[in-house]
Amino acid sequence: MARILGIETSCDETAAAVVEDRSRILSSVVLSQFDLHRAYGGVVPEIASRRHVEAIHPIVEQALADAGTGLDDLAAVAVTQGPGLVGSLLVGVCAAKALAWQLDLPLLAVNHLEGHIRSAFIENPGIAFPALALVVSGGHTSLYLCPEEGIYRRVARTRDDAAGEAFDKVAKLLGLGYPGGPVIDRLADGADENAHRFKKAVMKDRSLDFSFSGLKTAVRRAAHDAGLAHGSSTGGEISPAVRDLVASFQRAVVDALVATTLRAAEREGVRTLLVTGGVACNRRLRRAFHEAAAERGLAVHVPSPALTTDNAAMIAAAGFLHLERGAFADAAVNADPNLRL
Ligand code: KG4
Ligand code: ZN
Repeated sequence: MARILGIETSCDETAAAVVEDRSRILSSVVLSQFDLHRAYGGVVPEIASRRHVEAIHPIVEQALADAGTGLDDLAAVAVTQGPGLVGSLLVGVCAAKALAWQLDLPLLAVNHLEGHIRSAFIENPGIAFPALALVVSGGHTSLYLCPEEGIYRRVARTRDDAAGEAFDKVAKLLGLGYPGGPVIDRLADGADENAHRFKKAVMKDRSLDFSFSGLKTAVRRAAHDAGLAHGSSTGGEISPAVRDLVASFQRAVVDALVATTLRAAEREGVRTLLVTGGVACNRRLRRAFHEAAAERGLAVHVPSPALTTDNAAMIAAAGFLHLERGAFADAAVNADPNLRL
């Protein structure tokens, strides 16, 4: 029975978790900073790192307490090394280093994207390989081919904005608040997603890469033409025209993600799909993937919402692969904002 303490501070969530034997979550604590950043319409890095410094100790203590785990019960400490905001990452990395050194435990440096991919295995440890993993979040929109456990080969990425970033920017330009993804998910429910016909956000060449900045510009133009830019939410009521617009935008994003992932699966001969990252929370996206997979006889695994947005359980879960391989980080390991997977 091995237990790993996971720590995640790559962006604006301070998170800690204790996971036992690869996939049993004993605790998972996530402190979100949305309220601190909302006034700015996005994450302010300096504010984020200051908040992490204040929160990291109480959050780690709470994760241990919730799990009924003492420091002596831990087999290792896993932490997000990157990618992310450097000032935020540093707080988690320093805390994990100090704990590992003090307790004489292995330190496991985990790539945030590996964490997202491994989040799919927490509820389904028996997922078969090869698998194709879509990581779709505020910072990334990539497809990874996983031929076997612990091996990740990137087959597609975004050429410009990440899908989550597009949700956030569209919400901002319409004055709908931050973070944009959950707001648009809610407003689009029951609205007319065929009101605007946006061009599918896929590459003209044969590449599997994504591109969302053209779609964002098209939404801005449509909003402008219909007189819907900022302030469309007079008196707290969001107009039906705005709801139709964001529903149409959401549909275009979902169509692009599903179509490209299916093309990649076919090209790579993979029959198992993993859909991970914050945008995988999106109800329209989840439904579309389940329907498309059922139609084609593919298996699709989308983690529960709490595991798709940033959390530390996924970091601890990924840490098990490092622990089993003996891939330990040394005391000189540093945060890496541009870490590649
Ligand atoms: O994985 P995550 O928590 O952090 C990063 O690693 O980026 O993803 C955050 C992103 C944000 O852009 C947020 O707007 C988006 O995920 N998101 C959603 C939903 N919930 C979160 N996007 C669409 N629909 C949602 N329900
Ligand atoms: Zn993330």
